[in-house]
Amino acid sequence: MINIKNKKLAINGGIPVTAQSVLIHKPYLDENDFQAINETARTTFVSGNGPACIEFEKKLANYLGAKHALYTNSCTTALDLAFKVKNFPEGSEVIVPNFTYTSSALGPLLNKLKIVLCDVYSDNGNIDISKIEALITEKTVAIVAVDYAGNPAEMDEINEIAKRYNLYVVHDTAQSIGSRYKGKLTGTLSDLATFSFHGTKNLTTGEGGALITNNDELAKRIIFMREKGTDKQSFQVDNKRRGFYEYVDIGSSFVQSNILCALGILRFDL
Ligand SMILES: Cc1ncc(COP(=O)(O)O)c(C=O)c1O
Repeated sequence: MINIKNKKLAINGGIPVTAQSVLIHKPYLDENDFQAINETARTTFVSGNGPACIEFEKKLANYLGAKHALYTNSCTTALDLAFKVKNFPEGSEVIVPNFTYTSSALGPLLNKLKIVLCDVYSDNGNIDISKIEALITEKTVAIVAVDYAGNPAEMDEINEIAKRYNLYVVHDTAQSIGSRYKGKLTGTLSDLATFSFHGTKNLTTGEGGALITNNDELAKRIIFMREKGTDKQSFQVDNKRRGFYEYVDIGSSFVQSNILCALGILRFDL
């Protein structure tokens, strides 16, 4: 037992309580996780978008109260897809907070859009809503809002500005699974939201991400685009279509391994 009473904190020149660094993001995995991974691997469905992925998506959508939860191999690819699906004209502008992880800006940049940086509040790192409107031009198409360190951005005000100027809102909820804004879970507060299940996050599947939306059209196209532009997902949901799929859209490979999903499913079975 360490008696810290009347002791100077290490940051103020006191003696550190441990010589080792304390990891702030060490994931907690136990025997149930190892067993679930083992069992899923034994099904031999090891590639992407398998039955475990579909089950994880259902549990996630159900937890959030959202229509569509679409599992991807990272939040970064989810952000890329969030813009790819919209086909905004090259050079269109997207307002992004000037304090965030690179991926919030990569979504627009990978789709040849221009990022316009907006100041954040110095006390919590979230986008300063009083600074957004001055950045809107006739080229602006979207706003990216980030929940820095899990603290939700002011989504009512951001959605209200977006509505006034007819802008698309992508809510980068990478850091905020389980957080609530005015009683509602983050992920359900915008046109589309993107979670991260990287090893540093509260819910991890090793790597991974998800797009959350209530928009059927966006969801339908994203399902094709994440699977190399094919309608291969029909394998999973329609038995009559087993063995047949078609090339229907542009896309890339943004699906996540069925094995890793086992970790995600368990988080909802606690
Ligand atoms: C705000 C934000 N957006 C996106 C990402 C990217 O997540 P991923 O590692 O799943 O691609 C992170 C990762 O920490 C993040 O903090």
